[in-house]
Amino acid sequence: MEKFIDSPMVKSLCNITNVMYNKGWDERNGGNISWIIDDDKVAPFLDGFTGNTRNIALPFTVEALAQRYLLVTGTGKYFKNIKADPQDTLGLIQIAADGKSYDILWGFVNGAHATSELPTHLMNHIQRLAVDENHRVIMHCHATHTIAMTFAHELDEKALTKTLWKMCTECLVVFPDGIGVIPWVVPGTEEIGQLTAEKMTYCRSVLWPFHGVFGAGQDLDETFGLIETIEKAAEVYTYVQAQGGTKQEISDEQLSALAQGFNVEPKAGYLEVGVK
Ligand code: 13P
Ligand code: ZN
Repeated sequence: MEKFIDSPMVKSLCNITNVMYNKGWDERNGGNISWIIDDDKVAPFLDGFTGNTRNIALPFTVEALAQRYLLVTGTGKYFKNIKADPQDTLGLIQIAADGKSYDILWGFVNGAHATSELPTHLMNHIQRLAVDENHRVIMHCHATHTIAMTFAHELDEKALTKTLWKMCTECLVVFPDGIGVIPWVVPGTEEIGQLTAEKMTYCRSVLWPFHGVFGAGQDLDETFGLIETIEKAAEVYTYVQAQGGTKQEISDEQLSALAQGFNVEPKAGYLEVGVK
């Protein structure tokens, strides 16, 4: 597995975490990513692999992901260091056949293991794969303006989604399914994983108030782009609030026309069109 460090997957994860760090979304060890890697992408690196690995117990059983490979960020690892030292900060894990533990096949060379948010990542993967079999990536970060907005805006997910849709014209096109919002819960717990995964049945992004955001998608770029768009809208919201609030806005009728023009389906019941 030594050559896995030169794989396109490790290179892509190094690059995206570096971009995220430079955006200020991942102070210290803030944020984590898990990426399901298909068997055919891992197979070339398994040649001669003896199965000499570390095994880590999971706090719950994930049979739905049995034997799947995931490239994950390590708990306590600083995003700023990933690009320079992927073997220390990243790991390729494989969920055991009984779903009760995982093996570390590559990485985490200094004894680390997967992110403390692994419960949420695994539960979200299961949920997203049930909705779209091509989903592979779960990404969490502490995007600054998105966190700020959870202090200043009501935490109703319809209201919050509509505010974000109205901050930049193309938000609706990027996340027509809207944004889920859960109550504040202690991070790293199964409870926060379950609450987030429930939201992931109908949307690809979930806000954790006063903490950060989770996004899901088919690949690193798409998932990053989703969070980037949410964060951009939240940044515009911050400026609008600082300038004294909204004097005019994109109407629900205009959002509806946009959805038709871009052939996307806004979350049912969110747009009040034709209501006077
Ligand atoms: P980890 O270092 O365990 O990934 O935790 C960081 C984090 O953002 C927790 O929510
Ligand atoms: Zn976090």
